[in-house]
Amino acid sequence: MSNKNIVWHDHHVSKNERSEIKDQKPCILWFTGLSGSGKSTVANAVESQLLTLKKHTYLLDGDNIRMGLNKGLTFSDEDRIENIRRIGEVSKLFVDAGTIVLSAFISPFQNERDVVRALVEEGEFIEVFIDTPLEVCESRDPKGLYKKARKGEIPNFTGISSPYEAPTNPEIHIKTADFDIEACAAQIVSYLKEKSYIDVR
Ligand code: ADX
Repeated sequence: MSNKNIVWHDHHVSKNERSEIKDQKPCILWFTGLSGSGKSTVANAVESQLLTLKKHTYLLDGDNIRMGLNKGLTFSDEDRIENIRRIGEVSKLFVDAGTIVLSAFISPFQNERDVVRALVEEGEFIEVFIDTPLEVCESRDPKGLYKKARKGEIPNFTGISSPYEAPTNPEIHIKTADFDIEACAAQIVSYLKEKSYIDVR
């Protein structure tokens, strides 16, 4: 459908003004990793630590978004690409609102993660690689999905019958097999402090 009759409106209140009253620099913490790697768990712990610091956040995660906004999308490559495209656009809106958005999706393709990076300004996309080996994810199997995938009951399962492209140059690299959750979360919060996304007085 043509969008030639749609005109972009500039808002009176800017992203900077929205961010300033929140006393933070908005950004996307983009968590990528295998199913069961701990993306949502670490993202939740980061959000709790940021709440304690009185920072304004919002957490978007795969299973929840696929029950609402992205209901009906499958796990084919094409639908995963559309899944990430929509989440990227939503994340961008949250950044525009002045929020630190935590997006936790497998997002298996480097190209799609780079597409989201390109949607926002320099420094607003922080790729967080939740680097947990497949064997560890499979032994945790919190949702019993690996067991089903190995039996051939789930097609296109990431790491088993669908590819996962690990980030080549993530801003933050988290090894959940070696550190506890709070320590992993603290590593991310420290990054935000060091790079002045948040100013802790
Ligand atoms: S993504 O690949 O499109 O980024 P997303 O993060 O939204 O995936 O959803 C992943 C979640 O869906 C997993 O944590 C798991 O609970 C569930 N899931 C169901 N089927 C699959 C599948 N075939 N591959 C991976 N995850 C699946």
